[in-house]
Order: sequence, then C-alpha cells, then structure tokens
Amino acid sequence: MSDLPVLNTSDPAYAHDPYAVLAPIAEAGPVVRTMVDGLAVWLVTGYDEAVEALSSPRMSIDGIKNSGPEAREVFWAGAADRGLQSHMGRMDPPDHTRLRGLVQQTFTPRRVAALEPWIRGIVRERIEAFPSGDAEVDLMAAFALPVPIAVIAELLGIDVAQRSDFRHWADTILQASEQQEQVAAAAEAARRIMEMFAALVAQRRAAVGEVSLDISHEGTLIDGLIRAHDDGDALNERELLSLLFLLLGAGYETTANLIGNGMLTLLSDPARLAAVQADPTLLPVAIEEFLRLDPPVKVVFPRYPLADVELGGALIRAGEPVLVHFSAVSRDERRFNDPSVYRPGRGADRSEPSHLTFGYGLHHCLGAPLARLEARIAFDELLRTYPDIELVGPVEKLRREHSRLFRGLSALPVRLGERA
Ligand code: HEM
Repeated sequence: MSDLPVLNTSDPAYAHDPYAVLAPIAEAGPVVRTMVDGLAVWLVTGYDEAVEALSSPRMSIDGIKNSGPEAREVFWAGAADRGLQSHMGRMDPPDHTRLRGLVQQTFTPRRVAALEPWIRGIVRERIEAFPSGDAEVDLMAAFALPVPIAVIAELLGIDVAQRSDFRHWADTILQASEQQEQVAAAAEAARRIMEMFAALVAQRRAAVGEVSLDISHEGTLIDGLIRAHDDGDALNERELLSLLFLLLGAGYETTANLIGNGMLTLLSDPARLAAVQADPTLLPVAIEEFLRLDPPVKVVFPRYPLADVELGGALIRAGEPVLVHFSAVSRDERRFNDPSVYRPGRGADRSEPSHLTFGYGLHHCLGAPLARLEARIAFDELLRTYPDIELVGPVEKLRREHSRLFRGLSALPVRLGERA
C-alpha cells in the first residue's frame, strides 16, 4: 500500500467542495505526489509552481510520446480513440505552433469583440424563451449551457439538431475512466464524433465557394480551416477533425460553468448582486474574480518532464505525469490574500497576481476572449431583464456535476421575478 495522499475524483465530497478536499494536500507542499484515481501523479497546487509547469520548455504536453513507461495516460482516457487527440492541445512545438497559428488570428480580442451584437442576439433569444411571468427556471439548462453551445456550434457551422448528440459523446469521452466498459464507450463516441465532423467537412466542401479564414457567425471558420487543409500541407485530415473536436469540446461546458458558477456567486449574496446591478461596468472585474474563486476547469492535460526536473522542491523523473490543479492554485495563500473570499478587483494594485484559470504559456486558452465576452453579455442581459432574480432554496442543496475536469452545477434553480 502506498502512503501517498489520495484524491478520488468520484468522491461526492470532492464534487461538492474540492477546495476543502485539496487543502491538506496543498498544506503538504506546492507539488505533492498524490494517488489520483489510483494513479501516481505530481499534483501542483502552488501558483508559482503552476506557472513553471505550464510554461517550461522542459515539460511536454504530449503524453502519447513522452509519458514514462510507468505512467499511463491520466485523464482523457488514453485508450479512447487517439484520432481525436491529434490537436494542438496535446502537441508541443513545432506542431503546436503550426496548428495554433492557423486559428490564433481568428480569436484575437478585436475579432472576437466584433461578434458582440451577434452573441447578444443569441443571449436575448434564450431569455425570450423563458416562461413568462415570475417563473422558476433552471438557469443551467435554460441559459448557461445553451448559450455557449449555440455560439461555438454556429461558429463551426454545426447543425442545431446535432448539438445534443455532440454534448453526449464529448462527455462520454472526457469523463471516461480506465474501466474497460467506459473506454469502449468512449471509443465508440469518438468514432461517432469523427463521423459527424467528416460529414460536416464534406458538406461544407461541396457548398463552399469563396472562403476566408475568418471568424464570423456563418461558419467561415470551418471553411477557412478546410481551405488550409485543401490548399497545402498546413494541416492533415485527422488534424482538421481533431481541431474541430477541440474547439467544440473546449468551447461550451467551460463557458457554461463560468456563467453558472458566476451567477451562483452573485445570487448567494445580495450585496454582490446589487453592486454589479448598480454598475454593470464592474462586470468584467467580477468575471475575473468568478474565474479565480471557482474555476470552471479543475484540471487540464498533464505535463511530462522531458528529463528529470526539480519543481517546488520535488524531484520529478522524466515522463512522470504532472497535473496542475486550478482549483487549488487559485486559492494559494502565498499569492492571494484571503483566497476563499470574493473580492473583485484584486490585483488592481498589483499586490496579487492574475488568476491562472485560462492556463499560462504556449497553451494559454485560445478562447479566453470569447468566453469573457459571452459571460459579460450573459450576465448583463440576464440581470438587466430580471433585476429581482433570486435563488430558489438554500445554496447547500445545490448539486455539483461529478466531473474530473469541470466544475459546474447540475442545476441552478432561480425565481426570475418580474421583468424590468
Ligand atoms: C486551452 C480554460 C473557454 C478553446 C485552455 C486551457 C485552459 C482553458 C486552462 C489551457 C490548457 C493547457 O494548458 O493544457 C478555459 C476556460 C474557459 C475556456 C476556463 C471558459 C471559461 C474556451 C472557449 C474556447 C476555448 C470558449 C473556444 C474556442 C481552447 C483551446 C485551447 C484552450 C483551443 C488549447 C490551446 C492550446 O493548446 O494552444 N482553455 N477555456 N476555451 N482553450 Fe479554453
């Protein structure tokens, strides 16, 4: 029996309050070898150590090539179809540079800002679909989930009817454990997703005339990627399908959880809510604090040292998995004052650093400007339309999704109040 600390991600206590579960591990040190779901992993809970792990050129993100003989793939079930893993999120330079370069320009804050009126339209559409009068709704199902999936699916030109299938398949892949049954289900889900994307690519190839690699709400992003593939060797077919999977997979549940967790943070304290209602220009800083206080993504792909390294006082052998835990990092007491307290505007005086919830370094979230914009519009429209919105029932009764990766609510029941 190993005497390493244990983290069991299916433990209900972890889903409910990962901060409490992680605290003793963080106390033991910023980088601690931990049994996570039965696998030995270097768990990074310290802020500075996370920055180093995420940005060091000595750390590879390519677990297929660089995980040591002992290390099985941790998270993102290794045995599930590897075809879908041929994306930049699992690649080191120079392949990462090549693939990220293809889409980077389309996600700049300026390009994304131009989508504001269109995203506002999607958000308004969801709000208009709420039941009339002072009704009770589940904000996750009726708002937080449908908005981001509509945005990313439309950017990619995916049919409305296929979105729920995609969500189901992506969940099956992302949540799969090493258990044989789940691995088989994940492989089947991956096959279905590949088929869906291959059909989509074929359909757009047939329909498309003039295309440009641009971001707009007419699916021109996918057309541009197809052109990049067809015109030369910028990306191969498998990389094209994997990139679509990455964008769709990374683009919805993350942002849905930001909206859900953020609304919960506001609704659980009338003073917080009143502050942003009185001055909606405070929303951007409030959103940064939602991201720090309750990160929508708990962990990302592990890193694997290319040679033995020292990190936070730990000696890590080449190929051993290193897992940055964003929930712990964002509560690092060495970098944040009273980290469990909601305090928007932290760091304005530079006494505290920015959160790391969008990652750091080469793989820093490509969709961060889009996620921030969607969240700002979502909070703005919802709070302006329903100034008296409130939680139904006590916060303690709310259930969290069981997920290794994401931190979100199963449901967020609210009473809308009268429309403004
Ligand atoms: C990467 C978080 C929304 C696309 C990442 C990473 C994090 C993250 C932590 C770094 C992964 C790593 O270092 O291994 C989030 C959060 C979001 C969000 C918290 C919402 C609140 C989005 C959206 C998109 C997106 C809306 C859609 C376009 C990506 C992509 C990468 C990425 C493509 C990989 C970048 C690379 O490997 O170079 N995200 N994300 N994300 N994210 Fe996001």
